[in-house]
Amino acid sequence: MQYGHFDNEKREYVIDRVDVPVSWTNYIGIGDMMGVFNHTAGGYLVYKSSEYHRITRFRPNGVPMDGPGHYVYLRDDESGDHWSVSWQPVGKPKERYRCRHGLGYSTYESHYSDIAASQTLFVAMDDPVEIWDVRLKNDSGRERTLSVFSYLEFSFHHVAMDNQNFQMSLYAAGSRFVDGVIEHDLYYEQDGYQFFTSDFAPDGFDCLRDTFIGPYRTERDPLTVERGICQGSFEKGGNHCGCLQKKVTLAPGEEERLIFLLGEGGIEAGKRMREKYTPARVDEDFRRLAAFWDQKLSCLQIETPNGGLDTEINIWNLYQSEINVMFSRFTSFIEVGGRVGLGYRDTAQDAMMVPHSNPDKCRSRLVELLRALTTTGYGLHLFEPRWFEPVPEKQGFKSPTVVPTPDRKEIVHGIKDACADDALWLVSSVVQFIRETGDLAFADEDVTYADGGEGTVYEHLKRILDFSTREVGRNGICKGLRADWNDCLNLGGGESAMVSFLHLWALNNFIALAERLGRHEDAARYRKVAETVRRTSRRVLWDGKWFIRGITADGRKIGTQEDEEGRVHMESNTWAVISGAADREQGLSAMDSVYEYLFTPYGLMLNAPCYTKVDEGIGFVTRVYPGLKENGAIFSHPNPWAWVAEAMLGRGDRAMELYDALCPALQNDRIEIRQSEPYSYCQFVVGRDHTAFGRARHPFMTGSAGWAYYAATQYLLGVRPDFDVLRIDPCVPADWKEFSVTRTWRGARYKIHILNPEGVEKGVRSIRMNGQEVSALPALPAGQTCCVEVLMGKQESL
Ligand code: GLC
Repeated sequence: MQYGHFDNEKREYVIDRVDVPVSWTNYIGIGDMMGVFNHTAGGYLVYKSSEYHRITRFRPNGVPMDGPGHYVYLRDDESGDHWSVSWQPVGKPKERYRCRHGLGYSTYESHYSDIAASQTLFVAMDDPVEIWDVRLKNDSGRERTLSVFSYLEFSFHHVAMDNQNFQMSLYAAGSRFVDGVIEHDLYYEQDGYQFFTSDFAPDGFDCLRDTFIGPYRTERDPLTVERGICQGSFEKGGNHCGCLQKKVTLAPGEEERLIFLLGEGGIEAGKRMREKYTPARVDEDFRRLAAFWDQKLSCLQIETPNGGLDTEINIWNLYQSEINVMFSRFTSFIEVGGRVGLGYRDTAQDAMMVPHSNPDKCRSRLVELLRALTTTGYGLHLFEPRWFEPVPEKQGFKSPTVVPTPDRKEIVHGIKDACADDALWLVSSVVQFIRETGDLAFADEDVTYADGGEGTVYEHLKRILDFSTREVGRNGICKGLRADWNDCLNLGGGESAMVSFLHLWALNNFIALAERLGRHEDAARYRKVAETVRRTSRRVLWDGKWFIRGITADGRKIGTQEDEEGRVHMESNTWAVISGAADREQGLSAMDSVYEYLFTPYGLMLNAPCYTKVDEGIGFVTRVYPGLKENGAIFSHPNPWAWVAEAMLGRGDRAMELYDALCPALQNDRIEIRQSEPYSYCQFVVGRDHTAFGRARHPFMTGSAGWAYYAATQYLLGVRPDFDVLRIDPCVPADWKEFSVTRTWRGARYKIHILNPEGVEKGVRSIRMNGQEVSALPALPAGQTCCVEVLMGKQESL
């Protein structure tokens, strides 16, 4: 069953059946102001922080599940009938309604009572101002008189203030209306103002939520809309809203455009922004927004026989990966803003995936992570980057909502709270950044440590590697500590196979960097460490058919052939291959076991069979319901690891089968099972051992996006930057005859056309650049374009 379709021309997803099983969300904003909105304009807007500076309110876990939002009500002033442009909150009309989620904007279109209406939400390019672009058209054969009412509910900024201690919050915020501008003022804060205004002189306004809605009513049937007259309410204290009323008379066929602006600042800022954001300027910003995304997407465009893959890579997968890097992971309908900052491992992985389209943000994320590394070599699991800014942000007077800065000794947690994998990801992310950008000097930049002192980026990386070399258990495998990538596997002083493999991967990447920098002694020293890790892992972790997942503190191996529960795990087996620890035979056998035990039509489960007995030695995963999340769900994030592993083994058919199973775009016609949006990877899909098998949950904020993008572009399509060359090493289904990848690398453009006449899965016979045979593509001067012909065939890959 479908609820909508991809409009790839316009780079939109169009929802034309509004009663989707769960909210389908989208993001607006590209800078400090961002918002998350669903297919009915439910959602919220924040400025810089979703915990401390929320502009509009969201009631998570509410019924319905997705309100309030940024709504426009229409009222027929002859009949008194009313509806809303974005379907919710009124719920009329259902039949002729459409939502278009685009890149950085959403448009809601309704047709009811012969009035065509639309509302587009997006954020201005240069100012913290949300724009509501509203259009109306009279499709009836007679003159119509309508009232238009905007509605949004202001928040008390701080999530905690919004949800507790109302004896204070209710007296902290005020509102007023001056010269067509509503001002919301959180009086306890220094810069606690927002404005809401419009490009027309309003016929009425209300600033008080409860006056607008009326007693014992909801957003569905506000008293003000029912009566058709605003009260002109405002007050110091209470709950505030932004309602501006406009009376409109439309001749048959006549159109009207109304612009509303919601922004940071008080009355004066509102007036300035109203001057600035004329309809022409709004159009210009909308075009600039499209150009902004166009520039990013154009860094890598593909044309392959797989339509789902094309839709993902050319549009939605990059968009989702970028959103994670731009906004981190804490603003959604699932992450509702009560925690913020950067998760160490999540950010390190996100930042590795899009340095080609967002080098600046990836670089600044890497620096933030490097600053949150301890001199001991582990990262702070969850931290606020501003704690480690060289020049701390100035804080004004202390108010109850001021963002607290804990003392350094509270910030730097001990090893008991360290996750064994957190910082290891950063090593490869830094190396990947240098491979993409060629910025070798980054390695020698000075960066501080979280607990004091400073060192170069290169030295930071060494400390990370040395930490994992030291922190090994009885068998020489890295300790599991509080957790590894799997938050729910808590092996403590026990040992984690995955972490030793990650260590090896990080070592290999670091060694390549050291060699490139001419630091051969370092390279030799770490090569020895890598050799020990490889030998030890193979000796201790191989179980005859696959690799075990770890060893508990009391010495029990988990993930063995004898285990009845948690027999095969995806993390250890995929990383055994990716890290190069497994030899070819082991790799094939391990990945065959992954396929045999974990494959489902919706992707690979994380582990199987599920745990049903609580086992504290293994950890929290044994307390998770079977089939959900880390206990045998199709956890999306590690699925691409399997694609990379299969590609490294040269099995393109298998790799693409796994890709397709998880691919959201290919599930567009199975929404009755998937439920969630088909334009976003979800954190997990419910596994085989649960009644809701196949149901996807938690869109957008997941490392699956970045990993899917990276695995598909660099390992399946095989276009991989290295320090001095762009490598071409595809691994694709045997029946692919040809495909193309157009990629920007260091400012030059590579138009790569790959032919596969022999029907191989892997292997490159020749590469011709502008007619000349080469072994890999050199870095060309920025601005140049070249045409590359690649011939796949039965031969060793490059
Ligand atoms: C969540 C966390 C991530 C973790 C994963 C598996 O997605 O954000 O850090 O790796 O769960 O437990």
